[in-house]
Amino acid sequence: MSYEQPINQSPIGGLENIRKADEPCTIVIFGASGDLTSRKLIPALYHLYLDGQMPDSFRVVGFARRDKTDESWRMEMRESLAVHSRTKSVDDAKWDDFAKNLSYHKGDLTDSDAYTRLADRLQVYQNESLKNNLVFYLAISPSLFGDVVDYLHDAQLLKRWEEGDEFWQRVVVEKPFGHDLQSASLLNNHLLRHARERQIFRIDHYLGKETVQNIMMFRFSNAIFEQLWNRETIEHVQITVGETVGVGGRGGYFEEAGTIRDMMQNHLLQILSLVAMEPPPSLAAEDVRGEKVKALKSIRAMTPEDVAERVVRGQYFAGTVNGESRMGYRQEEKVDPESNVETYVALKLFVDNWRWSGVPFYLRTGKNLPMRASEVRVQFRPTPNVLFAAQGDLDLLPNALTLRLQPDEGISLRFNGKVPGNSITSRPVRMHFGYDSEFGAYTPEAYERLLLEAMAGDATLFIRRDEVETAWRIVDDIRAAWGDQPLTNREFYAAGSWGPMAAEELLANDGYVWHNPQPAE
Ligand code: BG6
Repeated sequence: MSYEQPINQSPIGGLENIRKADEPCTIVIFGASGDLTSRKLIPALYHLYLDGQMPDSFRVVGFARRDKTDESWRMEMRESLAVHSRTKSVDDAKWDDFAKNLSYHKGDLTDSDAYTRLADRLQVYQNESLKNNLVFYLAISPSLFGDVVDYLHDAQLLKRWEEGDEFWQRVVVEKPFGHDLQSASLLNNHLLRHARERQIFRIDHYLGKETVQNIMMFRFSNAIFEQLWNRETIEHVQITVGETVGVGGRGGYFEEAGTIRDMMQNHLLQILSLVAMEPPPSLAAEDVRGEKVKALKSIRAMTPEDVAERVVRGQYFAGTVNGESRMGYRQEEKVDPESNVETYVALKLFVDNWRWSGVPFYLRTGKNLPMRASEVRVQFRPTPNVLFAAQGDLDLLPNALTLRLQPDEGISLRFNGKVPGNSITSRPVRMHFGYDSEFGAYTPEAYERLLLEAMAGDATLFIRRDEVETAWRIVDDIRAAWGDQPLTNREFYAAGSWGPMAAEELLANDGYVWHNPQPAE
C-alpha cells in the first residue's frame, strides 16, 4: 500500500481556526437532486458564504438527471434551506446574492456527453481559476464513483496534479467507501488512475464535528490529561454512539450495510484513532493521518474465536423510543422478514502498542436506542483503597472523564468529594465544561468545515487511503467470523433499550458496566 508524500507540508492543519478559502473555484455537486445536497451541502455553503468564508469568487454547479432550470433548482434549495439551516431564519438578501452563484446542469452520470457539455459550460467563466480550480463532490451511489471519475478525466476536467501546476482539481467522495477491503482497494486504484492521493478527499462527517476535532486539542494542549493518557492510569475506554432513529426509509441500503459497515468501520474507528493516537510531529495532514493510521494498525487482529468472545451484534425488535412506538427491523420497508443484519454492534478491541497494551476499548453503536448521544468515556484505575476503607461503606468510584461529542457538547470529570459534615462520607462529584455556556450556541455543521477544507486543499479531516483500508481489514475479520450465522436470542433488543443482553455481558465479564449517556450530564 502506498500513498504519496508529502501531501501537505503547510503548518496550517485541520485544527486551526476556521479560515477563508481564498482561491476562486467551482464546486460541481454530482447528485444535486439528492437528500445530502439539499439537507447538508447547500446549507453548509450558504453558511460559509454568510460567514465570509467562501472565496471572493466561486460557483456551485448542481449536476443531476432531472429536468430543472437554474432558477427552479435555486428555489428548491431555498425551500430546503428554510428547513435545514442551522439558524432560525434565512437572510433573503444574502441568499439572493449567494444563489446567483448556483446553476444546474442536467445530465446523466453515465453519459459522456453530459461531461463534455459541463466542460463547455465552465469555459464561459471569465475567471481562469473558476474554470480550472474544480471541486467534484460525489454525493451519488458509490457504484458510480469510478465511472464519474473516468468521464471527468475523458472530458479533461480532471487531471493528475503535477508539481508546478497552476490550477487544481479535487474529488470529494462520500461514504461508504467500498464495502470491504477488496472493494475499497479496487476503488482506490480506480480513482488514483486519474487523480493523486492529495486530490482525493474521502469524507467521514464525524471528523467535521467540533467536538471530534477537540479530542486532539484536549489531549495535546493540556499537560494534566496527556500525562495520564496511558495504560498506567487508564483502566478502560468506552466509545458510545447512540441513535434514536431506526433505519427509516433506508432499509434497502441497511440490508447491504448493517451497522458494522455503516457506523463502526468509519465513525467509531475514527474516534478511536483520535483517542489512541500518539502526538503527531505537526498538524500537517500527513503527520496527523500518519499517527491515526498507526493507531488503527495497532488494533489486534481478531480470530473467529475472538470475534465470538468480543463482538456482539444486535437487531431491534418492536418497542418504544421516547414514547413513540417503533416497529422491529424485520418489519421495516425493504427488509427481509428473516434478516440477520445487525442494527447494533458492541465490541472490545485492544490497541497493541506501548501506550495501550492491555487496556480494553469498548465500542458500541446502534439504532433505536433511548438517546441520540455520542461520547468517549475514559475510566481511570481505582486508587488503592486503604485509607478510607476503614470508614466502612464509602462509595468511592474510580475517576472518569467523559468527552461528550453530541448533543450537550462538553467534557466532565468525575472524582470523589467529601460530603460536608462531621462524618467522613464521600460522593462522586463532577467538574463540567459545556460548549454552550463557554462559547455560546455557535456550532457550525460538520459539512461547513469539510467543504471549507476541501476548497482550501487541506486533507487533515479526510480519510487517507491506508486509513480506510486498515479500517476495512478490522471489519472484514469480524464479518467473516459472523458468516451467515443467524442471530441468537441474546442478540435482539427492544427498540428504546440500550442494546442486547449480550452487550451488557461483554462488559460484566470484565467487571464493568456501560456508561449510558445521561441527558445534559
Ligand atoms: C451516517 C450513517 O454516516 O451517520 C447514518 O450512514 C447515521 O446511519 C449518521 O444515522 C449519524 O450521523 P450523526 O451526525 O447524526 O451522528
